Amino acid sequence: MLQEARQKANAANEPYRARIVETKRTLRARITDMPARFASITESVESQIEEIVQERAQGIQPVPDLDFNQLDQVTEEQKHKIRQRGCLVIRNVFEEQRVTDWNRQLDDYLTSNNYLEKLAASGAVDDYFSTLASAKPQIYGVYWSPPQMEARTDPAMAAVKQFLNRLWHADSPEGPVFDPDHDLLYADRVRFRQPGDASLGLSAHVDAGSIERWIDPAYRDKVYRHVFGGDIAQYDPFEAWGRTEIEEIPSPAVCRMFRTFQGWTALTSQGPNDGTLQLLPVANAIVWMLLRALQDDIPEDELCGAAACRAMMIVKEYHDLLLRGYGSIPQVEPGDTVFWHPDVLHGVEDEHRGSGYSSVLYIAPVPDCAKNRAYAKLQQKAFEAGRSAPDFAAEDFETDFKGRFTRQKLSPLGLRQMGYQD
Ligand SMILES: [Fe+2]
Repeated sequence: MLQEARQKANAANEPYRARIVETKRTLRARITDMPARFASITESVESQIEEIVQERAQGIQPVPDLDFNQLDQVTEEQKHKIRQRGCLVIRNVFEEQRVTDWNRQLDDYLTSNNYLEKLAASGAVDDYFSTLASAKPQIYGVYWSPPQMEARTDPAMAAVKQFLNRLWHADSPEGPVFDPDHDLLYADRVRFRQPGDASLGLSAHVDAGSIERWIDPAYRDKVYRHVFGGDIAQYDPFEAWGRTEIEEIPSPAVCRMFRTFQGWTALTSQGPNDGTLQLLPVANAIVWMLLRALQDDIPEDELCGAAACRAMMIVKEYHDLLLRGYGSIPQVEPGDTVFWHPDVLHGVEDEHRGSGYSSVLYIAPVPDCAKNRAYAKLQQKAFEAGRSAPDFAAEDFETDFKGRFTRQKLSPLGLRQMGYQD
């Protein structure tokens, strides 16, 4: 397992080998108190994981849980907890009946437009899915259905995104990083996971860059500057400086917008064992991973299995500590939402052992900033033509779909979120 992970990472990292070696040398020289520094973050992460393990043992859910109708009454103490855990559930964002209708409309949209037939004819059914008896995919490459667009552009979702963006410190030594009160729109796909599906569990990983977290100047010298030098206690996962300047290595695994949180909205009731999301509710666990890769036992051209162009995977042999705190999110109902910080370790249960579909709309907050506006412009073109969103495989299934959401149907808020108005 370890050998395989190392070989894969080394092959993917070959074009970046010199930069990795140079960066590791620079950082190891810069960090003069490595044993004490690594010990302090290990202690911080261990004690948080211990607390989480104890909470779970007592039946307490470690993922903070809010109600949409009380977002304006969230206390500083609650916000502190959310920032520490790096994730949260916000319940009742949409009424259950409305979400159930959306779910049915989505099904009609896919069925009446022969989505599965088009998928099969395109040859895009990958190996994961073709071995499934039912050959039904789990993730559907549609972006512009009316339910998706209505959910994204709803004022309730805008309020949720504003709340989430405001958990960040958007100011920086170079001026505001983003406008927390105005969000754009990131068109993502839909998950319909059927009971019994064992096709696509995702093991624990972090998105928003893998080796970039060490070698990219914005990550290294802005976002993680307190990790790689100076006072590590000053590091704050919610400080935005540098986050919108990261230059991701282009790959199908990367999101070109800056998301203050990743997240989804539940279309169906789902919980542990229903093939749902798992998280490590520790926002600064990434710091431990960053420093772990700089320890003496790791070869100079390796980063504990982090590989270019892939999500940053957990490697048990290196990161076992983190897996102790890893667990499923609580039961959620249609219209509830879940969000996690871009540094938070997460994955999807291997198998869906429940009895109903576990389905979600991926909707994440993407605040207004130059980086996100640039992508919004590309996204407009895809929207107008009904093509796949620019970050995703160019399957373009919806170009001739009947009932597709069009620009004429956008509300003033929707027009703004799509970047059509300032
Ligand atoms: Fe992910």
